[in-house]
Amino acid sequence: MLSEDVYHSIMDDVASLFVNDSSGHDIHHTKRVHDSAVTIQATEGGDIDIIRLASLLHDADDRKLFATENYSNARSIMVDHGISKDMQDAVIHVISQVSFKGKDTIAPDTLEGMIVQDADRLDAIGAIGIGRAFAYGGKAGRAMYDPKEHHKEGMSESEYYSNEGTTINHFYEKLLLLKDMMNTETAKRVAKHRHSFMEGFLKEFYDEWYGTNQTNL
Ligand code: ADP
Ligand code: NI
Repeated sequence: MLSEDVYHSIMDDVASLFVNDSSGHDIHHTKRVHDSAVTIQATEGGDIDIIRLASLLHDADDRKLFATENYSNARSIMVDHGISKDMQDAVIHVISQVSFKGKDTIAPDTLEGMIVQDADRLDAIGAIGIGRAFAYGGKAGRAMYDPKEHHKEGMSESEYYSNEGTTINHFYEKLLLLKDMMNTETAKRVAKHRHSFMEGFLKEFYDEWYGTNQTNL
């Protein structure tokens, strides 16, 4: 098992990649994904080092933030910390399968990949998921909501990436779909709770927008 010193140092390197980001990809997101993945691993199993490294490095080459190729940020951080070539390859394999891409989303073919994908998705839903969605929408100059704009369904990877809809539409295009896309039983249970919290949020949002509940006028 890798030492805690190595993990701290990797965390510092990842943090320096994310300075100045306000799109929801800060080091706090990375830490939450790491901690959730470790918690899920305690029940579900899987190689702890692959899971921890992939969690810490999963956004190090995110296409929205970096113009890197072949996961070179993740690769060079691992090289700098003396991680074996086999371990590097296993971690990059996991990272390459994490992202949500509409109907082109990949189901990971390793337990480690399933766990990291679940941990990343859990951070996209619930109270923090709502916060991140509006932070992202604000940064991208999107409207919160527009009654005239209907959300899209069954988007492909390229449609999903080029989509510029409202943040409320993003709930229907991604966030509310994640509950049924979780891989592990542990994550399914947590997702159920966070999902109903988002449904409650949307109900309140519409009540306030349309004045459909007297107590919310
Ligand atoms: P992740 O870090 O989970 O891979 P993404 O890179 O897809 O997530 O996006 C980062 C955050 O921004 C997530 O919480 C996601 O839901 C949110 N986000 C992505 N696209 C949009 C969008 N079009 N509108 C609002 N929020 C978005
Ligand atoms: Ni992420």
